[in-house]
Amino acid sequence: MSDITFHVKRFDPAVDKAPYYQDFVVPVEGSMTVLEALFDIQEKQDGSLAFRYCCRSSICGSCAMYINGRYRLACQTNVAHMGVPRVTVEPLPHVPLVRDLVWDMEDFFVKYEAIKPWLIRNSALPDTEITQSPAERLKLNMPIDCILCAACYSSCPSVWTEENYLGPAALLKAYRFEVDSRDEAGRERMPSWDNERGVYRCHTIANCSEACPKELNPTEGIQWLKGSAVRRRLLGRKK
Ligand code: SF4
Ligand code: FES
Repeated sequence: MSDITFHVKRFDPAVDKAPYYQDFVVPVEGSMTVLEALFDIQEKQDGSLAFRYCCRSSICGSCAMYINGRYRLACQTNVAHMGVPRVTVEPLPHVPLVRDLVWDMEDFFVKYEAIKPWLIRNSALPDTEITQSPAERLKLNMPIDCILCAACYSSCPSVWTEENYLGPAALLKAYRFEVDSRDEAGRERMPSWDNERGVYRCHTIANCSEACPKELNPTEGIQWLKGSAVRRRLLGRKK
């Protein structure tokens, strides 16, 4: 067991004029994660500490934070493996702060919904499942793992500077459905991403792919969408 100092960003809009940092010493043992350390702080030192979590197993995306200068999932980050005596925990940067480590995800999900993030079928649904070949399924392997943690969104300079930009997570989801062999949206979904608040705001900086704690590559998806727009418009292709 070793004592680790957690340097945590705090802000309560009801009483604080500006965010500040507070130190908490936590005895860390075994495979304790940063999320478990936050629970420890909340239970034993300061019950007012606010943070978001749900699954505790890297699948809901709720606990994305900025930990020692990197985008990480708190529930996936083993404190001992970081090998440092002091861990700085901050909310995702460049997004509206609600309180402590919690930020306002309203705009993020409004933009996500704008790209119609569901399978669109125009033909009648068959009585059995709609099958895919292994090659068709392979195309979904990367984008389907997105857990909507928004680390990519928070890391993107185009999001910082253009408030209407849909951002990498929404565009990765558009890509996920456009490459799905079962999707029949044709050009129905395309206007949502083929515009100045969509793929053309991406300047291929690739911060999103660097930030993603699931090691996904939103930049690759966005580049595919740009190519697809050209193929559809100039060559009349379906995708
Ligand atoms: S692409 Fe990665 S960083 Fe972006 S929302 Fe999905 S899982 Fe999170
Ligand atoms: S609590 Fe669900 S991803 Fe961390």
